[in-house]
Amino acid sequence: MLVLTIESSCDETAAAVVKDGRRVLSNIVSSQIDIHSRFGGVVPELASRCHVESITLVIDQALEKAGLTINDIEGIGMTRGPGLIGALLVGLSAGKAIALAKKLPFVGLHHMEGHILAALLEHEIVFPFLALAVSGGHTHLYRVDGIGQYRTLARTRDDAAGEAFDKVAKLLGLGYPGGARIDELSAGGNPEAINFPRPMLHKGLDFSFSGIKTAVRNFVVSQPVKNEQQLQDLAASFQTAVIDVLVAKTFRAAKEHQLERIVVCGGVACNRGLRHRMQATAEQSSCLVYFPSPALCADNAAMLGVAADHYLENGAIGDLGMNAVANWPLDQAGQ
Ligand code: KG4
Ligand code: ZN
Repeated sequence: MLVLTIESSCDETAAAVVKDGRRVLSNIVSSQIDIHSRFGGVVPELASRCHVESITLVIDQALEKAGLTINDIEGIGMTRGPGLIGALLVGLSAGKAIALAKKLPFVGLHHMEGHILAALLEHEIVFPFLALAVSGGHTHLYRVDGIGQYRTLARTRDDAAGEAFDKVAKLLGLGYPGGARIDELSAGGNPEAINFPRPMLHKGLDFSFSGIKTAVRNFVVSQPVKNEQQLQDLAASFQTAVIDVLVAKTFRAAKEHQLERIVVCGGVACNRGLRHRMQATAEQSSCLVYFPSPALCADNAAMLGVAADHYLENGAIGDLGMNAVANWPLDQAGQ
């Protein structure tokens, strides 16, 4: 089945064409980062307006890159939530409009379901598996028993990991979003230079990252950064504290729930330090770790192709009255 997928939950307008839920024929992402970065974060109203301006062009580009026209498309999948409501509505409405005009079936999908199943575009992974979903809005551990079968095992009690990266980057004057910049700086820094806290490291599976962020703020106030090496040491020490917690809890969850396969996904899964540590820890255990490639970790539409194909093949048909959902637990997302 040839499926067109559309994603507009935050600050990326994206469309893709995916064949049979596995082969990515095109994956176009138009980022709004330049527009939001001067405000130090995503401005929801601006995001919605930018999506409106780009959506048709991005869909056209996805079709063109795939060497297809809209008449070749057999179904549509779009992100229904969670995310910014105005932003979500743009992609959802675009998908519904095309579906109505071309008499195509469509399905509204959960953004995190897309992130998790992106791993299946590049790897054969047997269910069940554990998913660590780390993005700007999520730091969750899910048990995945199949497509549409998700159970939340842990979540962050406060900031998401990506949010912590972005807030620390902002207070260090590194711009927005700063996760990738901290990752780069960490490569040249000493991860043991500063001993930042590892909140809730030995307590349950839930996460908490706001304490690390506050510790970095307090450190910078008492000892202002004077040179590039100190900045790199600070970035590396912060990043290592976050990674220590993510890795320890993920492997503990895998052990407690007897899961031997782990998928790490979402924007923070681009982090080179996290990828390296997850892989190294897996090698010392009986677990296999899978990461989508970086382009499929950050927000994109191809990641929706796996679930869209599955639900459409199984007869799911969205109704035109379907609304976007700003807050939507993944456990309730199966079709
Ligand atoms: O999944 P995503 O693209 O959007 C959301 O659904 O939130 O994730 C964006 C988050 C941002 O917080 C960004 O700073 C972070 O992912 N991120 C990174 C890296 N690349 C992106 N964090 C750490 N290291 C990176 N290399
Ligand atoms: Zn995302």
